[in-house]
This record gives sequence, structure tokens and C-alpha cells, in this order.
Amino acid sequence: QIAAKLVIMETIRLAHALGAEIRGIDITANPSEREIKAIRSIWHKHHVIVFRDIKWSPAAHIAFSRRFGDLDDHKALPNESLPGYPELLEVTNIPKDGKPSPTRATGRNWHSDFSYTSQPAAYSMLYCTKAPSVGGDTMFCNMAQAYNELSPKLRGILEDLHAVFDFNLVAGARYRTANNLAELTNINPPIAHPAVRTHDESGVRALYISERVSHFDGMTKAESAPLIQYLCMHATRHENIYRHTWRVGDLICWDNRTVMHLALGDFSHSEQRHMLRTTIKGARSGYQVSKYSARE
Ligand code: SIN
Repeated sequence: QIAAKLVIMETIRLAHALGAEIRGIDITANPSEREIKAIRSIWHKHHVIVFRDIKWSPAAHIAFSRRFGDLDDHKALPNESLPGYPELLEVTNIPKDGKPSPTRATGRNWHSDFSYTSQPAAYSMLYCTKAPSVGGDTMFCNMAQAYNELSPKLRGILEDLHAVFDFNLVAGARYRTANNLAELTNINPPIAHPAVRTHDESGVRALYISERVSHFDGMTKAESAPLIQYLCMHATRHENIYRHTWRVGDLICWDNRTVMHLALGDFSHSEQRHMLRTTIKGARSGYQVSKYSARE
């Protein structure tokens, strides 16, 4: 009789609001279903999980990510994947084909991945292959806690609102060529998602807004702006954040249904920062709105 492999994982909390490092498991050694279930449950509890000192190939990164769901092939961002691996988005300041990297400013405002699409990301797994000597951290905030801490009255108002996500508000948009931006806004027209969503696995309610929201559907931009600003400020208060300082070999996994994140640009651009991200598809959500859906 073969004894069942014992799952002894250690969870070390990284911040008050969210984030935990998982030790005691080798994720490169084809974890069992039981171990994947245990990781998923820690992930839902802490929203962001970190594994250190991972050495693996692009194929192993993809294989591990697949254990948590179907992978996005990043068609929303053509030509930004690692050549030969559509499932791996390359986030880097290293020039590509002699031109500045199109992803050199990716993630530089608070957001949840692929919120500007009709199938926003469930999870993301970002692996660091090159980190600057200082800076280039990533911050995460807890959107479930942000929702819980709102007054019941405002929570009630938000239940009726759909937030319109606009690709033009993606931080890196202004670093793109006009042609590339036109192509991407064409692929990703404005889309409205409920401002509060229910996590389809854990049942947790969380705010779903970001700095990429242009307005609430049916409201004017002027009416929407103070509320968007307030909600972003409320969600990103210091006490609601985990800030990660990268080391090569770190794998950070976040749940886009309960977390917003922000990549900081505070590092020397003479140094290289290179990350590979898999994106696990979430449920279909929202409806497309016309560019002019904001009331005048
Ligand atoms: C992202 O927004 O997915 C990238 C985050 C980072 O580069 O830190």
C-alpha cells in the first residue's frame, strides 16, 4: 500500500490586508490534486500568494498555471507574448526588434487584468526572470476588504452601477504608437462590468473598479469622476496594500476578482526588468458600450 503524500505547506503572511508566501512545496514537481486544492484555498484566503526561488522553463510555468484553469492566449494584446508561447505575456523594458518594448510601462496604474475585455482574468501568475537592483516593486490591494469597509448605503448604490473600462486609460497606452493604440482600442472597445462582483469560486463580494474606469454607464463623466476617484483612493489606502519587492525566481499569483495591482516605475531604465505572466481566464462578464455611452 502506498501512503498518501502528506501536504505540509507553510503559509507566512506578508501584510495585514493580503498576501502570503507559501513554503514547503515544490511547485515544479507536478503537485498532486490535493496540493493544488490546498494552494487554491490559501490563495482565496490571502488573495495574493508568493513562491520564491522558482527555476523553471516557460513550458513548466504554463503547465503549473493550467492546473488552475484555462489560459488566455493574450489576443487582446497581439505581439506581446514570448515568441512561441502565446500563453506567456512578456512584461519588460528590454527593447524588442530594436524598438522600445511595448510593455515597458505595463501595469503603471491600479487595475485588474483584462478588465477591458468581456472575459476578465480570474488569476494571474507573474514570474520574475530579471529584476532591477532597486525599485520596480508591484503593489496589490484587497478589493473585498475595500468593499466590506464601505457604508451599507454606498454599497447599495454601487449594486446598481456598471463601471465602463476604457483601453485608452491603460497606463501604457500613451507609450504606444498611434497605430498600435488604434489597433488595441479596436480589439478592446469600452466594456461595462458590474461595479461589485461575486467571486465565482469563493462567493466573496468585491469592488470591481479601477483607474481604467472612464465613467459609470448611464452617468456623465463629470458625475462619475468623484466617485471613481473616491473608490480608488479608498481601495488603495496604505493599510489595504501589500507591496512586493522582486527577486529573480519569484512567482506571484494574484486573484483579479479580489485584487487590484500596480507596477511601480521607480527604477533605473538602464537596468533590465523582465517578467512572464500567465493569465487564467475568468467567467464572461459585462456588456459592450458605445464610445459615447457617457451621458453628456
Ligand atoms: C501587470 O500588470 O500584469 C504587470 C505587473 C508588473 O509588471 O509588476
